[in-house]
Amino acid sequence: MESPFNSNALRGKVALLTGGGSGIGFEISTQFGKHGASVAIMGRRMNVLDGAVSALTALGIPAIGFEGDVRKLEDAKRVVEATVRHFGRLDILVNAAAGNFLAAAEDLSPNGFKTVMDIDTVGTFTMCHEALKYLKKDGPGKAVPTGGLILNISATLHYTAAWYQIHVSAAKAGVDALTRNLALEWGTDYDIRVNGIAPGPIGDTAGMSKLQPDEISNNTRESIPLYKLGEKWDIAMAAVYLASDAGNLLSNSHIARCVDTRITLMIQQLVSLGKYINGSILPVDGGLWLSRPRY
Ligand code: HXC
Repeated sequence: MESPFNSNALRGKVALLTGGGSGIGFEISTQFGKHGASVAIMGRRMNVLDGAVSALTALGIPAIGFEGDVRKLEDAKRVVEATVRHFGRLDILVNAAAGNFLAAAEDLSPNGFKTVMDIDTVGTFTMCHEALKYLKKDGPGKAVPTGGLILNISATLHYTAAWYQIHVSAAKAGVDALTRNLALEWGTDYDIRVNGIAPGPIGDTAGMSKLQPDEISNNTRESIPLYKLGEKWDIAMAAVYLASDAGNLLSNSHIARCVDTRITLMIQQLVSLGKYINGSILPVDGGLWLSRPRY
């Protein structure tokens, strides 16, 4: 699908993505690259990273993979530093690494609960903490003093409650709290924007196949107001929008298609708002979390 955004929207930016080698994380890596960013991806499986880096470089995207587990402080530190050594700077951190499985609360061991908290919540904090000094507006390698961006991938399941996902709900609620608190502290002190994206059910992902057996998936589909599963592309486009601090974000072909100048102006104003968004968590779920049975 053609991107509505200018292919230079992220030109010159360096992005590090945890979980960037597969699923939603890989689609964000790809779209960041297609919009001009250099991309470092971090993951636990070297074979997955190798495949992802080959696919990115085949598209002409400067890319590198680093093996590491976000639960290990030394890995977080090493990967952040290696990214800066390789690309010279760091502008964007995307926390997309996540652990997940279905388990009823009474069958879930405390260690199972802790494992997901450690990956999703503590891992996100650890990565943010290690990346901070590079994301500051006067961070190493910054030609122009601009604060960076942190993008945390969470979910919508903790807005209400979700069957058999007490661990994930708690972890993603924690991630959203990190997003807001870091947006307040680091937005104020260092000009770093911190935002989140909360995907709904996205087709062709580990989350869908592990967490939503076919029969649940079919029921879910019927309760989504837009009546279809999301695509990884939908999440990646939201990420490009939030990541870009450029004023002129829309591609010329999309602007040309807006025959009415007032609409063009309105859209341009709207897209330039990306740089003013801080502390927001954008649900991209077709409205699923709002849906209720019809009376
Ligand atoms: C019950 C389980 C379990 C399961 C693991 N545990 N899998 N309990 N049911 N299916 C428990 C173990 O028994 C153990 O507790 C503890 O969790 C740690 O298990 P390990 O296997 O040692 O952990 P590890 O090898 O580190 O694996 C981490 C993992 C794994 C989270 C368990 O599944 C994983 O990383 N998966 C890949 C990532 C993934 O699934 N990504 C998709 C994310 S989708 P005990 O007590 O026995 O020691 C997503 C969407 C969110 O995030 C939004 C949804 C709508």
